[in-house]
Amino acid sequence: GKVAVLFGGTSAEREVSLNSGAAVLAGLRRSGVDAHKFDPAEQPLTALANYDRAFIVLHGRGGEDGSMQGALQQLQLPYTGSGVLACAVAMDKVRTKWMWAGVGLPTAPFAVVDKSQFQPSDCDNIVNSLGLPLMVKPANEGSSVGMAKATDSESLLAAITNALQFDDSILIEAWIDGPEYTVAIIGDEVMPAIQMETDNEFYDYQAKYQSSTTRYHCPCALSEQDENELRQLALRAFKSLGCQGWGRVDVMRDSHGQWQLLEVNTVPGMTETSLVPKAAKVAGYSFDELVVNVLSMAK
Ligand code: DAL
Ligand code: MG
Repeated sequence: GKVAVLFGGTSAEREVSLNSGAAVLAGLRRSGVDAHKFDPAEQPLTALANYDRAFIVLHGRGGEDGSMQGALQQLQLPYTGSGVLACAVAMDKVRTKWMWAGVGLPTAPFAVVDKSQFQPSDCDNIVNSLGLPLMVKPANEGSSVGMAKATDSESLLAAITNALQFDDSILIEAWIDGPEYTVAIIGDEVMPAIQMETDNEFYDYQAKYQSSTTRYHCPCALSEQDENELRQLALRAFKSLGCQGWGRVDVMRDSHGQWQLLEVNTVPGMTETSLVPKAAKVAGYSFDELVVNVLSMAK
């Protein structure tokens, strides 16, 4: 049947989604799937009545946060990836961490700022309880949009003020020194971990999409035991949120060697050079096999 590849959208990650979606669309077509571009920013959802399935490649709010998944469910259109609840929780980094903390999975200490209650004097309390430096993140963003490192109360206030332009809810995390890893999950299979290495302060938007110096290590240099531990942890983190189909779990390792879960992306980047296709390739799956496999799990 006809497949709508949903990409573009209206979130801050629209540009990334346009690239991801174009790659997925091309991969599906090369594989003989009757796939068509569908941009919810330009087309009414009622037009989806002409399709049999949807491949969601929308990043961020309005596409990765459960609302589109709910709409597709109402239209009785099977779609790729996680359902409403898991997408909604995974979009919100604060609630993701509450969930993980609740089931005893490791995630760095944190504070939460809500726009309606925030006072600049809160910054001193946050610094006193979490120490320095700190990482400031809009709770419901992706691709590191709106994120900044804070090194004192003053830069914390600046970082929170900036993040509040993107979201009403802000996550402030104790700084994690170690390298960043990511683990892709496709169906029941956990892909080999990738380690990202950047010269920037952290793996930010520039390092993700505009840098030619970011290094990706896959297979990474972890011992077999550590890699297994990381992959097991990623799978538990994914399942504890109720995620299914596919996704990507971001993790850091702190200076004590402890894993610290960051977040789950229920619609991870899918350009030909993105992380999930990279890991899948190492596991022996071509980009086209990957997208056909993800589509086949739509429900
Ligand atoms: N949020 C971006 C697209 C990613 O995680 O790959
Ligand atoms: Mg994300």
